[in-house]
Amino acid sequence: MLSVSKGGSMKQIPVDQSLSIAELTADPYPTYRRLRAECPLLDVPAIGRIMVTKAAHTKHIKEHPELFSSDDPSTPMERAFQAKTLMRRDGADHMRLRRAMQPAFTARHIREVWKPLFAEVVAAYVDRLPTDRPVDLFGELTAPVAARCLAHLLGLTNASDDDLIFWSQALIDGAGNFGWQPGPFEVSDRANDQMQACFDTARDAKLRTPDESVMSVQLHSDDPIDWADMISNLKIAIGGGINEPRDAALTAVYGILSNPDQHRALVTGEVSWNVAMEEAIRWVAPIQATSRLVKADTSIDGYFVPAGRVLLVSKASANRDEDVFEDGERFNIFREKKPHQAFGNGPHFCMGTHIARMLIGDLLLPRLFATFPSIQLDPARPVEWRGFGFRGPICLSVLLAP
Ligand code: HEM
Repeated sequence: MLSVSKGGSMKQIPVDQSLSIAELTADPYPTYRRLRAECPLLDVPAIGRIMVTKAAHTKHIKEHPELFSSDDPSTPMERAFQAKTLMRRDGADHMRLRRAMQPAFTARHIREVWKPLFAEVVAAYVDRLPTDRPVDLFGELTAPVAARCLAHLLGLTNASDDDLIFWSQALIDGAGNFGWQPGPFEVSDRANDQMQACFDTARDAKLRTPDESVMSVQLHSDDPIDWADMISNLKIAIGGGINEPRDAALTAVYGILSNPDQHRALVTGEVSWNVAMEEAIRWVAPIQATSRLVKADTSIDGYFVPAGRVLLVSKASANRDEDVFEDGERFNIFREKKPHQAFGNGPHFCMGTHIARMLIGDLLLPRLFATFPSIQLDPARPVEWRGFGFRGPICLSVLLAP
């Protein structure tokens, strides 16, 4: 239920006492659609934040870090990661940590080092899929592929796919634990202990034998950051580098298979697989929302936004904003090309953007659909979606052969 009280020349942000985390986790999109139409900012006590749902506002907030800081003291992320990561820092402090990883993400590295290596991983993992039973692509393809590619990128090939998948999920569940329940933090603490052991072993190896990985470029920099910061960078990359490509690829496969005309246009080459990848993350952004702390009293769209409040900036909602996208609720690779916000905006723009595009658009989707031309959704097991802070299919069962 919405309550609106007006005072002074600026509008007061309505408060919704009834909106729950459970409702948002099941499906936040009907709420976002209603808010975009009725009131673009909403104070939601259940998450302790003000939701921001219009594309122009979310972009403005991300592009003005001097007014909207990433250093949100109320976020569960710091507790989950046992570190104040670069995602929660601003200005020079943030840039120094970001720059430490940058040499592993250059266009040349992506083209000459990661793409050939990732192509081998994708081929091996696609080709081993069974054709005599339904396959859940979540557990059998997209999560392990993303994990193995990330192991190479980060220089953590001493970790198994299962290790990395567990760590990534534990960090994300902890970072999204807006209700501050003890359970998710117990799991993330266990993951942190395991990661620490893995990082220590990998560091010794990379000190002896440098390579192109994130671990190695951080260690061998001319002006290295502290080991604790290198670790927190690696944790951010683990948190962001598995679940997001996993969910993006699953969303793309689901969108393609549930729209036969679009499927046809992709396999005939009329539309590129990269377009399908981009449309998938516009349609269901894997990172749905991020927090920003308001540094000084300000206003957005005539609403008074006081210093000290935390905004929940919804890329998920921005990416379906009627002011930008026609019929944004629909997966449609034929739509007019417009910039989406699934990789963020401003100084924290996703570092893995080009890696993710290459992995999913250049390699994974083309290989999967070329290897299994009869692939179809499993009629016996419909797709299930979940997530509020992060969102994607939690199961995508397909039949690979007729
Ligand atoms: C489709 C896949 C992906 C999506 C949708 C995605 C999305 C995002 C978003 C929205 C942010 C910014 C959050 C904010 O504004 O606060 C971000 C940050 C980041 N992402 Fe990604 N990501 C993806 C894949 C990856 C991959 C594969 C990596 C590789 C390691 C990665 C590494 C990072 C890092 C390091 C940051 C932090 C940047 C900073 O704070 O300066 N991401 N990602």
